[in-house]
Amino acid sequence: MSQEFVALILAAGKATRFKSKKNKVLHLLLGKPMIQQVLDCVFKLGPKKVYIVVGHQRDIIEKQSFAKDITFVTQEEQLGTAHAVLAAKEALKQAEADNVFIMNGDLPIIRPETLKPLLDIHKKERNALTFLTADMDDPSGFGRIIRDDKGRIKVVEEKELTPSQKAIKEANVGIYVFKINELLQALPKISNKNKKGEYYLTDIIEILSFQGKKVRSCKTPYGKEIVGINDRFELAQAVDILRKRKIKSLAEEGVTIYDISSTWIDLDVKIGRDTVIYSSVVIEGETVIGSNCQIGPFVHIISSKIGNNVRVLTSSMIEESTVEDEVQIGPFTHMRPKTILRQGSKVGNFVEMKNTVFGRKSKAGHVSYLGDSEIGDMVNIGAGTITCNYDGVKKHKTLIENGVFVGSGTELVAPVKVGKDAYIGAGSTITKDVSPEALALARSRQTEKPGWVRRKRKK
Ligand code: UD1
Ligand code: MG
Repeated sequence: MSQEFVALILAAGKATRFKSKKNKVLHLLLGKPMIQQVLDCVFKLGPKKVYIVVGHQRDIIEKQSFAKDITFVTQEEQLGTAHAVLAAKEALKQAEADNVFIMNGDLPIIRPETLKPLLDIHKKERNALTFLTADMDDPSGFGRIIRDDKGRIKVVEEKELTPSQKAIKEANVGIYVFKINELLQALPKISNKNKKGEYYLTDIIEILSFQGKKVRSCKTPYGKEIVGINDRFELAQAVDILRKRKIKSLAEEGVTIYDISSTWIDLDVKIGRDTVIYSSVVIEGETVIGSNCQIGPFVHIISSKIGNNVRVLTSSMIEESTVEDEVQIGPFTHMRPKTILRQGSKVGNFVEMKNTVFGRKSKAGHVSYLGDSEIGDMVNIGAGTITCNYDGVKKHKTLIENGVFVGSGTELVAPVKVGKDAYIGAGSTITKDVSPEALALARSRQTEKPGWVRRKRKK
C-alpha cells in the first residue's frame, strides 16, 4: 500500500462548555464556520479522502455545503474522542491508504504549514504514531506530555493531572497521524475508567508507546496558534488571532490599514492595492474592494462589490450592493441590498437606497430615500426627495430617466415615471408620469394676505 493518508476530523462532541444551542463547529470565525476553516486547512495537506465524525446536530452539519467532497461518519453517542475514532473503524479499514491524519474539529486557526512537518516526519520515519505538541505559556485545559526515563511517552488529561504534572508546559495539540493498522489494533484497549468516564483518544499514545511501537511527538514552534476552542472566550481569542493574520496578509499585498485594533475584515474579503482603511471599519462576507479606495472611518460593508477609486466616508453602511468606480458615498449613508451605484455617482448625508440602480454621475446629496427605483445618468436628486414605493401591500417602481432634475422635498408616489431631462419643482408630490423635458409642479400655490399679522395683533 501507499504512503498516502486519509483525514478524519472529530466534530461530534456536544461542546457543553460552549453553552450554545448550535454545535460549536458551526460557529463563525470571521465569516467562516469553524469546521469549514478546519477543512480548508486539511484539504491543503492533500489527503486522499476526508471523513468527518458527526453526532450532535449531525443533520445540520451534513446539510451545510462545504464545497468539497466529504464523507460523514456518525457517532451516535458521544463517549469521548477515542469512541469518535472507533465510529470510523469500518471506513478506515476500507481506506486505501496506510495512514490516517486525525484532527480535533475545534482547532481552526492552525495553518497547513504548521502541519506539513508532522506528516513528513511520520512518513519518513514510518512511525506507528506521530503527534503534535506545543509549549504553551498557559496550557490549562490541554492534555500534558509526560515522558519516562526509558523514552516512553504518554498524555495525561487536565482533569487527571497531579499538582506537579500541572506545571508541565508541553501540551497535546489534538492532531495525530497514525498507521491505520496500529490505530485499529490499539483502539479497543482504551478504557473509560477516568474522571470524565470518557474514552480518551490520548490514551492510545501510552498504549502504543508501552508496546514498544514507534511513537514520536513533534513539537511545533508555533505554539501561539494552538487555541482549542472549547468556550466563547477561546472563540474570541481565536478570532483575534485570525483577524490580525488577515490584516497582515492584506497589508503585505499593498493595502493600508491604520488601526489594527479596531478593524474587522472577514477572511474571504479581497481588497486591491493602495486602498486605505481608516479606523473602526467592519468588512464582511465575500466583499471585494478595488484599488485606491478610501474606506472609513466607522464604515460597515457586507457582501458587496466596490470598484476602484471609491470613497466611502464616515459612518456609512453598504449591504449586498455594487458600487462602481469613482463613486463617493457618505458621510452617513445607508446602501441596502441590491443597490447599484454607477460610475462617478455621488451619494451623501443621510441618504438611504434599496433595490435601486443609480446612474452615472447622478447625485443625491442629502436626506433622501430611494427604493425600488431606476435612476438614469446625470440625474440630480434634491435634498429631502422620497420615493413612496410602498402602498401598505405592494412595492412599486420609480423610473427616472437621464438628465432629470428633481427639486428638493419631492415625493414620488410609485409606480411613476419621470421622462428624460424633465424638471420637477421643489416640494412637489408627483403622482402621475412626467413627460420628457417638461416642468412638473405638484404643490398648492402660495397665497398671501397683506397685513394679516398686524390685524391679528390688534384683536
Ligand atoms: C482534547 C484532548 C486533549 C488536547 C485537546 C486539544 C482528548 C481526550 N483530549 O481535549 O489532550 O489537549 O483536545 O484541543 O482527546 N469529539 C467527538 N466525539 C466525542 C467527544 C469529542 O467527536 O465523543 C470531538 C469534539 O467535537 C471536538 C474534538 O473531538 O472537536 C475534541 O473534543 P474536546 O471535548 O474539545 O476535547 P478537549 O477537552 O479539548
Ligand atoms: Mg477541545
